Amino acid sequence: MSTFQAPKGTYDLIPPRSAVFLAVRDTIATQVRNAGYGYVETPGFEDVNLFARGVGESTDIVTKEMYTLTTKGGDQLALRPEGTASVLRAALQANLHKQGNLPVKLWYSGSYYRYERAQAGRYRHFSQVGAEAIGAEDPALDAELIILADQAYRALGLRQYRILLNSLGDKECRPVYREALQTFLRGLDLDEETLRRAEINPLRVLDDKRADVQKQLVDAPLLRDYLCDACKAYHEQVRELITAAGVVFEDDPKLVRGLDYYTRTTFEFVHDGLGSQSAVGGGGRYDGLSEMIGGPALPSVGWALGVDRTVLALEAEGVELDLPAATSVFAVALGEEARRILFGKVTELRRAGIAADFSFGGKGLKGSMKDANRSGARLALVAGERDLAEGVVQLKDMESGEQRAVALDGVLDAVRELLG
Ligand code: HAM
Repeated sequence: MSTFQAPKGTYDLIPPRSAVFLAVRDTIATQVRNAGYGYVETPGFEDVNLFARGVGESTDIVTKEMYTLTTKGGDQLALRPEGTASVLRAALQANLHKQGNLPVKLWYSGSYYRYERAQAGRYRHFSQVGAEAIGAEDPALDAELIILADQAYRALGLRQYRILLNSLGDKECRPVYREALQTFLRGLDLDEETLRRAEINPLRVLDDKRADVQKQLVDAPLLRDYLCDACKAYHEQVRELITAAGVVFEDDPKLVRGLDYYTRTTFEFVHDGLGSQSAVGGGGRYDGLSEMIGGPALPSVGWALGVDRTVLALEAEGVELDLPAATSVFAVALGEEARRILFGKVTELRRAGIAADFSFGGKGLKGSMKDANRSGARLALVAGERDLAEGVVQLKDMESGEQRAVALDGVLDAVRELLG
């Protein structure tokens, strides 16, 4: 143990569990790549105002949870709490929206930072894979993204999740609803802070988790009843498209998200085995975000799936991913001459694309075979002085225990044959 520990609310990804994280990222990435999304990578920090304006000045993320810093040059930066504002900023900066057909479809994977109250499933450093379709207002895009996320979770083997779907309206109908909700909230018995929130961001009050608040919200007006005809028709098309794709979802008229940029379609993937931090992913449409950060009108939609919580969900369901063994061949060398020759063989195998490892540290036969077992390798390559004198090495099948002598220059071919 060192004097230092990972900071509060963070943890290290270490083998063998880290392999599951990689597989989760990879599975999600496979789905979006397969649907024409291109990879984008942006810096881990941005101008703090990008998030203040984009995510929303009154959101918890901006007011309480951002890691901000002032550089020696006086720039105000924030570690990114989410990816959407950054990705849109990058797309605008590179003029991607002017270079061809819209939508511009991008995906990303990385670390995000929120100074949250740390608990199981809620961390201060976490990992997301996200996808954004920028610059088109088309219900098929909203549907595509929901279907792709569903496909990613299914491909991983998850079953106990639900998709919650809502529409948050647009700049025509939301203000009317906002007013109606505010009038309703002003009549309730709420503490001062909640009343203040009702004035700044009334929709957020709907998301209050406290039972005494929820009890009073039973008769709150619902945005669903205030949607304008265009929003209603749009939402109906999204619902029809995902239904036709066989994706099961629940209408959740009270679903509001923790970021202010959403318009129309919003959705969340919740897992029933995770307790209070149940959202494994979420997203929606953000038709006004580009203008909020100084760009042209670019209606867009996207999601981000939380890698940490997806791994927790896999563990909660007892799903074991079919992970390929890291090593196919493990070389056990007995004596100096064997070390020299087998180290060469390991290099040869690796150059031929075969995953191979070596018994480092000058161990004896027993210790080295233990290492070979632990590595999960299908084959062990064993050689001592007597083998080398005969110009052979022993190739052992770790499962059946069968062993045969192979000529030194025939190792690569024999390994290839046995591994199929
Ligand atoms: P979000 O709902 O804030 O949305 O985060 C997406 C997912 O990231 C959550 O569902 C959760 O799985 C994971 N997550 C968020 N915070 C934490 C945390 N503190 N610890 C562990 N996991 C966490 C966004 O970030 C939007 N940018 C999504 C989006 C993309 N909307 C449109 N495009």
